Amino acid sequence: MRSFLSVSEEFEETTLPSTSDMQMMTMTVEAVVAHELSKVYKNGVKALKNVMISVKKGELFTIIGPNGAGKTTFLRIISTQLTPTKGDAEVLGYSVVKEPKMVRKHIAVVPQDVAAYGNYTPWDYACYFAQLQGLSSSESKRLARKALEAVELFELRNRVCNALSGGEKKRAIIASALSSNADVLMLDEPSSGLDAVARISVWSALREIVQEGKTILLTTHIMEEAEMISDRLAIIDQGIIITCGNLKEIKQLVKERFKVVVRGKTDVIDSNYDVVKFGDKHIIYVKNEDEASELVRKLLKDDLSAEAAPVTLEDVFVKLVRSRNC
Ligand SMILES: Nc1ncnc2c1ncn2[C@@H]1O[C@H](COP(=O)(O)OP(=O)(O)OP(=O)(O)O)[C@@H](O)[C@H]1O
Ligand SMILES: [Mg+2]
Repeated sequence: MRSFLSVSEEFEETTLPSTSDMQMMTMTVEAVVAHELSKVYKNGVKALKNVMISVKKGELFTIIGPNGAGKTTFLRIISTQLTPTKGDAEVLGYSVVKEPKMVRKHIAVVPQDVAAYGNYTPWDYACYFAQLQGLSSSESKRLARKALEAVELFELRNRVCNALSGGEKKRAIIASALSSNADVLMLDEPSSGLDAVARISVWSALREIVQEGKTILLTTHIMEEAEMISDRLAIIDQGIIITCGNLKEIKQLVKERFKVVVRGKTDVIDSNYDVVKFGDKHIIYVKNEDEASELVRKLLKDDLSAEAAPVTLEDVFVKLVRSRNC
């Protein structure tokens, strides 16, 4: 069966890792390490430029970046679906260039554009990926059930994928990755197309997997997702990693910690502030909470509606990417 987890179809051995495998996995502290990874496509697009990333075992690591930044290219290389033009990466100590089969034994992948086989059910998929790990039928069924329940799809487990909605299909695919019991999960925009409730179920399932000691590498455009579930993050832009760290470290890259959202005329807003305009709304970035409160008081006196809030990852992301493109 050809699968939407395009890596798994190339699995040649479906047994549990050998003793030497286990030794290799125990020795390495990092789950994924990229060494100066570059990719130039045949059309000349430089999708990745000397990317260096290190993801520790048991970590949920998120890559965020604008459209075309190189996120999918990176995930496709480290999941051995694409070869780099230069550099290499290791997954649990195995080179994606020299030992792709070993890498594939330890990963499960959810690609950005998934196409489920219409005549199979979520249950077929979830059981199949559990069985690929060489698990017994009863253990495969247990994992499949757990994964489908985690993404709230157990009720629909016997409906063929052709008869599922887009978001339900996506959840079936995520469930099969969860049930695979792989050491490293690579998910390219897992939450796109999911409603807010389904997203939270998926987030919770992913955090649970990480607590069990697995490693997750994902990409997203949903800043709230990156903020809520990541242990560490990297921001990529135009094929270059512009920063990497935990949420606190990334937020410290901009000097402003607060913002004031104001609606109305602009002439009272001091031109020294960093202001982003959305129609009749303005976001004014300020250094701290005191400065934000003082500005709100001043704006309210001028009969404007104004609210203060701490800056979010989204604010920081937009500022960093914009400053590079100015
Ligand atoms: N098969 C391909 N051949 C040529 N160029 C490609 C190919 N795939 C992607 N690109 C280009 O490489 C760059 C990186 O694309 P990539 O898909 O990795 O970006 P992304 O960060 O995943 O974007 P998105 O957020 O839109 O999914 C883009 O400029 C894209 O147009
Ligand atoms: Mg992509």
